[in-house]
Amino acid sequence: MTTTVTVFGSCNMDLVAYAGTAPSRGETVLGREFRTAPGGKGANQALAAAKAGAAVRMVGAVGEDEFGAELRANLADSTVDVSGLRTVPGRSGTAHIVVDDSGDNSIVIVPAANAAVQGLVEGDEALLASSSCVLLQLETPLDGVAEAAAAGRRHGVRVVLTPAPAAPLPAELLSNVDLLVPNEHEAAVLTGHDDPHRALAALLELVPEVVITLGARGSLYGTRQGEVVEVPGFPVRAVDTTAAGDTFVGMLATALGEGVAMPEALRLASAASALSVQRIGASGSMPSRPEIEAFLTSH
Ligand code: RIB
Ligand code: NA
Repeated sequence: MTTTVTVFGSCNMDLVAYAGTAPSRGETVLGREFRTAPGGKGANQALAAAKAGAAVRMVGAVGEDEFGAELRANLADSTVDVSGLRTVPGRSGTAHIVVDDSGDNSIVIVPAANAAVQGLVEGDEALLASSSCVLLQLETPLDGVAEAAAAGRRHGVRVVLTPAPAAPLPAELLSNVDLLVPNEHEAAVLTGHDDPHRALAALLELVPEVVITLGARGSLYGTRQGEVVEVPGFPVRAVDTTAAGDTFVGMLATALGEGVAMPEALRLASAASALSVQRIGASGSMPSRPEIEAFLTSH
């Protein structure tokens, strides 16, 4: 069964330097290679869901520059419906990324066109209303994210929020979130607890369902009713973890929309993310559904 997912969020062109280690303050280091790759947490989630087999719509904005045209084309080429993707005056969002030898990254984001995504415009609500799920992140203005969450709730659509980059979340936004998917760092920022189990308990006071992603260690899921599921990760050699979390969420939302039970959906999501960290670049690293299924069969 094909499921429909709407992503409301950011598109960035990733400008990536690969270097042995990221520079510390005041330091200059030599890099090995430079690449550009379409990214942005919103667009990454959209691509991941499309590759996982969902029918996907992207609501957001790109600039009038060359990057904007490339970001739009990259989504459309992967079957993402871009009728809700606006082109606004000025530059597209960019992410300035350093990836080190362990595959970890540090990122500076310049929102540019993403700052124009301040709420729903005509047509967006209809896209949301006919979806099984809406995926939200925090690279576009908070008021718009809150409006999209409220619209999702109004239409009985599952509202999934990736609270990244980590920021304090207004109660009104949280009241419309069904599933929160932070990584460990974001969960700690939101709750003050470094221990994932304690962070989980604290987050479940805010929203009914939570998945904390734990990198190579897998994920931790819990509900307000007291269900807890721990799904182990897959040990793989990471070369670039950029968009691993976005890949996880895109696969998770697709599986849940298809009616797959949470533990199996989490396994699919972990596998998608394990495959993605073995490849460089954000949008280029997302695996297809057959690849994900084959990986699970062999692990
Ligand atoms: O989550 C990964 C993404 O974060 C990158 O693609 C980059 O654009 C930043 O937004
Ligand atoms: Na990757």
